[in-house]
Amino acid sequence: MMKVDTNNKIQIKNRLRDETINRQADCKENIIYKITVQNDEVPVLPEHKTVLESLEAANIETHSHCRDGFCGVCRVTLISGNIHYPNGEPLAYVGDDEILPCCCIASSDLSLEID
Ligand code: FES
Repeated sequence: MMKVDTNNKIQIKNRLRDETINRQADCKENIIYKITVQNDEVPVLPEHKTVLESLEAANIETHSHCRDGFCGVCRVTLISGNIHYPNGEPLAYVGDDEILPCCCIASSDLSLEID
């Protein structure tokens, strides 16, 4: 029968806990902005190229089709905050209080309403 090394198990458990804590700290340091959607808070990380990518990374249910500002399917209501369209204004119709997450990036913390 194999002898179980209790000290080794504790060391492994502690190492895994420390790695998890370090990963969480790294993630918090990389957060550029936060997006609030209903009761969820979504981090905007450097690797997210659009607001839509931030929402999808957090498993927020969104609609999208062209992902390039043409169809308007991704349209959501901007309650507060600032965005900009790095490739110019999108072609799809956008109301005064609406944005197209597929082709914009956050310039501040955002609050969104998604139907
Ligand atoms: S997915 Fe088509 S405009 Fe955003």
